[in-house]
Amino acid sequence: MNILVIGSGGREHAIVWKLSKSNKIKKIFCIPGSGAISKIAECVNIDSLDFEKISDFVLENKIDLTVVGPEIPLSEGIVDYFNKKNLKIFGPDKRAAQLESSKVFAKTFMKKYNIPTASFEVFDNYEKALKYINSNPSVVIKADGLAAGKGVFVCDNVKEAQDALKEIMVNKIFGEAGKNIVIEEKLSGEETSLLAFCDGKTILPLIPAQDHKRIFDFDKGPNTGGMGAYAPVNLVDKKASDKIFDSFLNGINLEKLNFKGIIYVGIMLTKEGPKVLEFNVRFGDPETQAILPLLKTDLLDLVSATVNGELSKYKIEWYNGYCVSVVLASGGYPGKFEKGKEISGLDNIKDAVVFHAGTKLENGKFLTSGGRVLNISAIGPTLKESISKVYSNLEKIKFEGMHYRKDIAAKRLSQ
Ligand code: AMP
Ligand code: GLY
Repeated sequence: MNILVIGSGGREHAIVWKLSKSNKIKKIFCIPGSGAISKIAECVNIDSLDFEKISDFVLENKIDLTVVGPEIPLSEGIVDYFNKKNLKIFGPDKRAAQLESSKVFAKTFMKKYNIPTASFEVFDNYEKALKYINSNPSVVIKADGLAAGKGVFVCDNVKEAQDALKEIMVNKIFGEAGKNIVIEEKLSGEETSLLAFCDGKTILPLIPAQDHKRIFDFDKGPNTGGMGAYAPVNLVDKKASDKIFDSFLNGINLEKLNFKGIIYVGIMLTKEGPKVLEFNVRFGDPETQAILPLLKTDLLDLVSATVNGELSKYKIEWYNGYCVSVVLASGGYPGKFEKGKEISGLDNIKDAVVFHAGTKLENGKFLTSGGRVLNISAIGPTLKESISKVYSNLEKIKFEGMHYRKDIAAKRLSQ
């Protein structure tokens, strides 16, 4: 089969890497891909929102199946476009992608289908929202639309809530994405990411993972796109997660949502049990870089079965052990950072795999080109061994300003 993957980050590098291990694949293409991905797939520089050009490319190159990495092409309707042309594609259509692209849609869906979540109110009026937070100061304020992970404000007091509200609704820092907002009850507890394949009839869960969102050790400092992840982590009991997935499946069927892809459920483990913080409609980043190295079943089989509505025939097999994936970031990230720093030591990595999140290949050398630069993933029979393997490997890599969290998965060891 010929396969196309859309995207260019560490997640897509991991997806292409895993697909490349399938002996059923003839050729893998990636749009737009990256220098690192070009070592294992043919990268083609087409805008990932130019659906016409992409579908022409798919037809010309006899591509059997397209896998979409990031949320934006999904929320802009790439699946609808491909479906009209009878081209096979992995991911939800535009209406179903609202589970990620609209917090109002997602929260309304959760409430309607009894999926446990924080209580919430929706506002489209600044004065009314202001009045509400003055009497409920400890809240979480969320811009309705996609905001590259920056649209959520966890507020500790009235001042913080007022500032967040002003930024979103008056200064309009997220533009249209902040026209509507969700104000929800602030929860507390550990977080975990439950991902599953969904073909609309069957849900097949992946091993649960945990991301580390804050920039500094011990979960200090501002939020980032994710500084590292590990899997598996069993924080939510199976009965509770099955219940959430069953309610999700029931909901998408009753709402007639066309969902053939990955559903990612962000969970917070509260004292009252697991509650859903968010849905994403795609593979998580960096969770995928910790999950896929442990996947024993052919990823192509699972992706094809999802698109063909045949997931019920499959069971997912996993390698034993744990995988820890650590992000190496540019100096200054998640704030301003410089690019173009030469990366050394990549050839010295042994017994770990490197996924490139933000690099570019120039004259045979890899240079930094993003805030999150590399993901180093290592597998070990115990969590402790995979932690030590990943850290002993990443010390071999250097670039100016490089920083990373030294406590990925450490919390689990101390418990
Ligand atoms: P979301 O994009 O909705 O998952 O929110 C991003 C992050 O904000 C989550 O990973 C949590 O750390 C935090 N968060 C979101 N909703 C809540 C909530 N209701 N209570 C406490 N923290 C939250
Ligand atoms: N790890 C968070 C996300 O993929 O959105």
